[in-house]
Amino acid sequence: MKVLVASKSVSVFETLRAMPDVEIEPALTTEEIAKIIPSVQLVLIDFEDVVEYPYDIGMIQALLAEAQEKRGLAWARSKDFLVDPEDWLQQASRARGGRKLPDKLTVAFAAYSGGVGKTTLALDMALHFARRIERPVLLLEFVYGTSALTALTGLEMPFLYDLTSNIDLQPAVFRGVTLVPMDYENCRLLPPEEFGKYYKRQVANHVLTVVDTTWPHGLVRAIQDEVDQWLVVATPRLDAVENAKKLQLELGAKATIVFNQKRGAEDSLALAGMERGLDLPYINRVDEWRGKLGGKLLNFVYGSAWREYDKSENFITALGRRLTHRRSARQP
Ligand SMILES: Nc1ncnc2c1ncn2[C@@H]1O[C@H](COP(=O)(O)OP(=O)(O)O)[C@@H](O)[C@H]1O
Ligand SMILES: [Mg+2]
Repeated sequence: MKVLVASKSVSVFETLRAMPDVEIEPALTTEEIAKIIPSVQLVLIDFEDVVEYPYDIGMIQALLAEAQEKRGLAWARSKDFLVDPEDWLQQASRARGGRKLPDKLTVAFAAYSGGVGKTTLALDMALHFARRIERPVLLLEFVYGTSALTALTGLEMPFLYDLTSNIDLQPAVFRGVTLVPMDYENCRLLPPEEFGKYYKRQVANHVLTVVDTTWPHGLVRAIQDEVDQWLVVATPRLDAVENAKKLQLELGAKATIVFNQKRGAEDSLALAGMERGLDLPYINRVDEWRGKLGGKLLNFVYGSAWREYDKSENFITALGRRLTHRRSARQP
């Protein structure tokens, strides 16, 4: 069981450490606490120990009340917990949820066709993960020719060839996402095993790895075994649909088709009866990276574990808005 401890009480830590199957998540700022609440079953909190940054304590109390009501989360002050710790753990074991995201996941977007949205979906997904979870997320790109990542982000950053050959060089981080752009012209001269070693090291250091690859690609073999889920991207056009079906067969059981840029009724007709895992809409100003597509994709790959994270985050945002409104309403 996972227990969030937002307290300076040494006895609480010692008591928990002596109990079997308890994983302690310490946190003292309201920011950390809000992030961790969705993934635990018990919260031990002394409000006077909490650092009110960036939210005030009312935000945390509201989050606790919501989680208590919705999924039976147990929470207590340390002095109440210490009266009968066993009883609190029992109570917490009846809480629903408290789901944890897997420690490691690698998702790869692939397609025979260009222009279907591989890079867009990969980047929006990685950025949205970083926005919500703030844990290390990696974006790997496989291209022939010029890098789409550097073009889209407009950043000057180290490329794969230099990253693999110079161990002191660190990849760029863009809004929380580690980016490894590919310079194919240089990389094609090196044996794929060289990249394989570099990639595996990078993947091991990240909770989520998102791969954006054109298919087939000579270097993607280096990480092929690491991929947990292939998302074959298609748009609602007959040729893209046929290509996607072919690639799904080629990639096997780990592959799912994702229909991107779906617009309206005509598309629905064209796609009637086609098997796929997920439909994504055409959206305006997709390059603002607001996470509309990324959120749906994270929901799809992580399932209910992701929904809890997103829910608590939405809740904080909504609450924040309400509080700000109240404050501005008070002004003359
Ligand atoms: N869901 C979407 N809604 C609107 N535009 C999209 C969407 N997905 C992709 N696009 C646009 O389609 C074009 C091709 O997308 P891109 O990600 O570069 O495709 P790929 O990487 O498969 O070649 C880009 O202009 C991108 O902004
Ligand atoms: Mg691309």
